[in-house]
Amino acid sequence: MPQDGTITPKRLMLGQISICDGCCCGKTEKGHPAVPVQWLKQEWKIRGLLKRVHLSISGCLGPCDVPNVVMITSSEGTQWLALLNTQRHYAMLADWAEQSKDADKLLPLPKELRELALMPYRSQPQLAFEGHR
Ligand code: FES
Repeated sequence: MPQDGTITPKRLMLGQISICDGCCCGKTEKGHPAVPVQWLKQEWKIRGLLKRVHLSISGCLGPCDVPNVVMITSSEGTQWLALLNTQRHYAMLADWAEQSKDADKLLPLPKELRELALMPYRSQPQLAFEGHR
């Protein structure tokens, strides 16, 4: 254990993407767009993203009324996205994760994904990973 008491794993992640596949997100029977879970898992494996920009397929993240929801966390903060309704959105997310892995840092999200920014809390919105536009 480090001297400051913080627990540090062997492999340090750049960030973590939690993609909601809960009670509403991805539930086509409720009229919501599908979440391409198998495609995402395959892409993360093929692109060597596992453990760098970690992918988690999650249960309900909370804001069910704006499916499909994604939460990106890193040491820079948390960025929520909502209304991912096309395969293209998920492909952009995979491309961004791969480019971030190659750059060894989380890059600014593509404009099209930034436009899907979600603020699920009561405080002022703040865009993480905003960077250069
Ligand atoms: S099911 Fe995705 S936010 Fe609730």
